[in-house]
Amino acid sequence: MRTLIKYTVSVSLLVVLFFHPPLLAKQAAVAMPDSYSSDTARAILEQGGNAIDAAIAAQFVLAVTLPEAGNIGGGGFMLIQKDGKGDFIDYRETAPAAAHRDMYLDEKGNVIDNMSVYGIHASGVPGSVAGMWLAHQKHGSLEWKTLVDPAVKLAEDGFIVHPKLASSIQKYISRMQKKSIKVNFADYFSDAKANKTFKQPELAATLKRIRDNGKAGFYEGETAKIIATFMKQHGGIISEQDLKDYQAKSRMPIKGHWRGFEVLTSPPPSSGGIAILQWLKMYDLAKPTGPLEHNSTRYVHILAEVGKRVFADRAEYLGDPDFYDVPKTALLADDYLAKRATGIRNDVISTTENIKPGLHESEQTTHFSIIDQWGNAVANTTTINLSFGSGVVVSGAGFILNDEMDDFSAKPGVMNVFGALGGEANEIQPHKRMLSSMTPTILLQDNKVKMVTGSPGGTTIISSVYESILNAVEFNMSAEQVVNSPRFHHQLWPKNVIRHHKGLEPKVIKALEKMGYKLDERHFGDMHVIINKDGKLDAASEESGRGKAMVFDTLNSSN
Ligand code: DON
Repeated sequence: MRTLIKYTVSVSLLVVLFFHPPLLAKQAAVAMPDSYSSDTARAILEQGGNAIDAAIAAQFVLAVTLPEAGNIGGGGFMLIQKDGKGDFIDYRETAPAAAHRDMYLDEKGNVIDNMSVYGIHASGVPGSVAGMWLAHQKHGSLEWKTLVDPAVKLAEDGFIVHPKLASSIQKYISRMQKKSIKVNFADYFSDAKANKTFKQPELAATLKRIRDNGKAGFYEGETAKIIATFMKQHGGIISEQDLKDYQAKSRMPIKGHWRGFEVLTSPPPSSGGIAILQWLKMYDLAKPTGPLEHNSTRYVHILAEVGKRVFADRAEYLGDPDFYDVPKTALLADDYLAKRATGIRNDVISTTENIKPGLHESEQTTHFSIIDQWGNAVANTTTINLSFGSGVVVSGAGFILNDEMDDFSAKPGVMNVFGALGGEANEIQPHKRMLSSMTPTILLQDNKVKMVTGSPGGTTIISSVYESILNAVEFNMSAEQVVNSPRFHHQLWPKNVIRHHKGLEPKVIKALEKMGYKLDERHFGDMHVIINKDGKLDAASEESGRGKAMVFDTLNSSN
């Protein structure tokens, strides 16, 4: 009898399975800079949305819960690999129509301190809402409203302030007071206290207009009027027309071949894609045959030498491709890189002043990585430049404006806040995009996503990204090891200075100092990385931040 019951149950099960095949759970992963963006991205994927839907919803949530960098008043880059094809949504800010080359110089031609960094003059025309709109139009699958709604709720009902956020808000307010910089940041954020609910009613109203009217809810109508009026009242130059004119752009990602991978990365106006490919390729050309020990003296030295050359090229040739003819192909040509790598010696530091651009004979941003159940991926880096941007909140609209204008070169030979230099390629012109170091990057193999990576950190972003790739590929690290491993950065100027995280071994530090390097120990970046190892996803967010990474099975894989 028992056998019969068993048999009947098995047969019925088979019949049920045949007519109702089980939904196969498929892995998806998110690595995000805070728990709200992480939980929202996961919920969107579980609802059947794709990686781009999850990214759009997360971007809007970050504008509420991560005011240091998440934004609607800034810009960024979204790198997408969907259905086997790459796309790059450039939503970088632009210079307002009334901007001009010398706008940050005094009568004597000297750069006016802080003018491009804090206050009403520091902002470019925001690109984030247009970028999300374009990404949604091209690649979204769920309704726009569904994607903006989670942010509206968090702004309206409030969110619990993480102690790290409360502390950075208080530190920022005291710093502004100490420096006597008059911005209205404190009026909006001084009530954000650790572990308490913080509501943002004006921001909620702005987000509702965006939810209900799409792109026009920001660039036209009431929001545009509030921004332009606010600008006029305080002597700023962003006009209603500037907002109306703003266009996000879809560009061809840069694709480079490196060690059997296709590196899908960020084209200009990011300097990062070209830089990481130059860095990875010149490393292979300059290093001795045989493996080098991770973060050993020689490894750090060779990569610093490569960095000198990469940053000399960046300062000279990189800018907005719509305004300046960036010699992309020449900068990535194998023979050019081979020639450029020949001067690198294993044991001696090259003279900084002698490293010129080679073709003719510079904190707060945030990044997230998503892979959906169909293998599509998004690497998105977004910014208002420094922590809390220009410190200016648009009264009546409740969002912080960027200080991205500082990424232009205010004057040749004068460094910006990240120590980056630039010339004509990155001088200020109306409607031009300022050069960026943001480098969202996806590694492909046989057109399958193998790694999604990116970081904040100004010019150090480039080092965080190429080192994350070397850590995963050359040193076979897990996602957690990749994001938490100590990193280092050298960018030509300041002369022979290597910035690094705690964690380089004392003997390596001593040996580098003996060679003539100066070591500057200061943490940089906040990495959120996903690795696909033989079909299994591995995701991690850097432990020093407040990120949250998850790999999960999702039953909803019909699309
Ligand atoms: O686009 C850029 O390169 C800079 N505005 C990024 C700023 C940044 O990463 C600050 N973060 N720590």
